[in-house]
This record gives sequence, structure tokens and C-alpha cells, in this order.
Amino acid sequence: MTLQPARPGIRKIRAYMTEAEDDGLPAPDLLLNSNESVFGPSPKAIEAAREATGHLERYTENIDGTLAPEIASFFGVDAAKITVGNGSDDLLARLARIYLGPGTEMLRSENGYPKTPNYAFANDAEVRSVPDQGFRPSVRHLIEGINERTRMIYLANPENPAGTYLGSDELQALHAAMPAEALLVLDSAYDEYVDDPGRQPVHTLVDGASNIVMSRTFSKIFGLAGARIGWLYAPLDIVADVRRISTTFPLSGVSMAAARAALTDRGHYDAVYTANRDGRAWLSERLTGLGLAVVPSQTNFVLAGFPNPARTAEAADRHLRANGVAVRRFPTPAYRNHLRITIGRHEDLQRVGDALETFLAS
Ligand SMILES: Cc1ncc(COP(=O)(O)O)c(C=O)c1O
Repeated sequence: MTLQPARPGIRKIRAYMTEAEDDGLPAPDLLLNSNESVFGPSPKAIEAAREATGHLERYTENIDGTLAPEIASFFGVDAAKITVGNGSDDLLARLARIYLGPGTEMLRSENGYPKTPNYAFANDAEVRSVPDQGFRPSVRHLIEGINERTRMIYLANPENPAGTYLGSDELQALHAAMPAEALLVLDSAYDEYVDDPGRQPVHTLVDGASNIVMSRTFSKIFGLAGARIGWLYAPLDIVADVRRISTTFPLSGVSMAAARAALTDRGHYDAVYTANRDGRAWLSERLTGLGLAVVPSQTNFVLAGFPNPARTAEAADRHLRANGVAVRRFPTPAYRNHLRITIGRHEDLQRVGDALETFLAS
């Protein structure tokens, strides 16, 4: 007797980022490759986390009861519709476990968040990827891609790695065309960085429907990626099921303390928002001025294409690495000649701009 093989979907799971190559260079000193916040967390969060290390013998109980009301009052949403997890990754994986299985499909935009298919494969579901338009998800193609097997439409909004964003009208049009038995997952990891003045907050879409959910994270604007805290905003019955399949204690006491303290520091949150918005505008302009194809971003990163075949993204990546800067490349064909650069402090962005200028002129 031998062990049964893994379920077939498990072997379809692929790494979705290009691993850092062993290039023999010293470790980079500027990390603009994982969309982490270069501004770090609020000093209050660091202090609270430090203090919480004095209680490492304890499990962290009643996570939703403690954190959900505090998230709700910070963002002006309904606490009952929130459940907290070990990063939004945990919550997205749980949704896939609940709704996807053999014979069902996840529908997505083909150049959308590259991790997404793995949530479906882990549950032996199929993935249908439809074309986008200039790295923007196409509502028309998504609607055309719906069939009787569609159980989940997954959209990162804003997208990663493109940074593009769909407005509420487009999301509503997509929702209106969906069958009621399919779930619209709005992965909103970068929502806090959006500066579209006309937008309707995503939570209002969730409030107005029985089949829309929004995932959010403390990993980006709150600067707590390493603490692994995410939250889901969803109709009550969905929240109940997502809680049902939680691990017993998904958050550490240190993470819980950090998240709670971060929510008391609106000043830090606002300062990061402003620094990011300004840095994004500055870097986009600088890179455009260098002749790169910059995709308009609503996030804490910018995707830049390298149109000159003699000056490829791969070579630019190597040049930046040789200058101590790590940015991100992706194996996906559409992104092969692009680099995704996380927004840093002004001096970081200047360094990137200068290094790329030298590279492009060489
Ligand atoms: C679009 C998107 N969704 C989800 C995540 C996962 O975030 P978390 O750290 O909350 O698991 C990321 C992380 O980069 C992301 O870019």
C-alpha cells in the first residue's frame, strides 16, 4: 500500500513571482519588491507589539469580538460583518474552500493578481481567465466569461501588479450581470491608497448585496505585513461560514496588539497616504519622462514597461540590483518586460529614477 497521491489541483499550484536569483551581489539595501510599506507601522503599534511579547504564553481569544468593532469604527462599517484572519490571504483561501470544488470555476482577469488561480487549484476547481484592456480588468469580458460552473468572480481592485482600478459603476455593472449563486470577491488589499474622488466606498456594495465580499489587510498602509492581519467584510451568513473553517487562533497576541494600536493612530495613516500619493505621482512622472510605459496606479506601487527592446526590464532589474535596489519582475508573459516598483520615500524614488536614467542612457 502506498500513500494516495495529492488531489490533482494541488500539483497545478505554481509559484507566481520570479524568485530572486543568486546573482552573487550583496543583499539589497532598498526593498521595493513586495509592496510593503517603507514607512513602517505606527510607533504606537511597535510599542504595543513589544509590550505584548510579555504574554507569549497565551492564546489570543475572541479576535473578532475585540478587533472587529475597532476596525468598524475606524472605517465606518458594520462590525457584525467583519471577520479577522491571518492576513487577507487566509480569508481568501477560506472563501475558496467554502465556494469552490471539482466541477466549479473561478473567473478572473488574465493579468490580475497572479496568486488567484492557486486558491482555485487548491480546491480542485478550474480557472477561467479572460482578457483585460491595457492591464485593466474588462467588465465586458468578465461578463462574457460567466457560465453555469462559475461560482466565484475574483477581482483585485485595485489590481496587483498593474495598479489599475475599476470604479463603482463598473463593479455594479459586473454584479448586475452575475448569477445570484456566484460570489463576487473584491480583494481590496490596496483600497486605502485609492484617490478617486468620485468613488463609492466598496463596503456599500457589500451592504447592498447578498453575494459580494471585500477583503482588506493591515499589510499595506498600516505597515504590518509581517504581523499577518487581514479582515473580511461580508454578508452575515458568509461571515459565519468563514469563521466556521478558521484555525482555532488565527492571530497572535502580538499581531492583535499591533493592529489595535495602529487603529488609534489616524495621523500615521494619513501621513502614509499622503506620502504614498505624492511619491506615486512623482515616480510616475519621472519614469514617463524617461520613456517608460507607466500604468496609471491607484496603489502603493507603479508598474513600468520597457518599450526599447535594447533596454529590457530584465536588464534594468539587474542594474537596479547591482545598485542595491530590489524591485519585482513576474514570469507572466504580459509582464515579462515590466518592473513593479513599490513606492518608497522621496529619496528612495530619486535613487530608482537616477539608476534607471543611467541604465537607459548606457
Ligand atoms: C492583491 C493582493 N491581495 C492579497 C494580498 C495578501 O495580503 P495579506 O498580507 O493580507 O495576506 C496581497 C499582498 O501583496 C495582494 O497584493
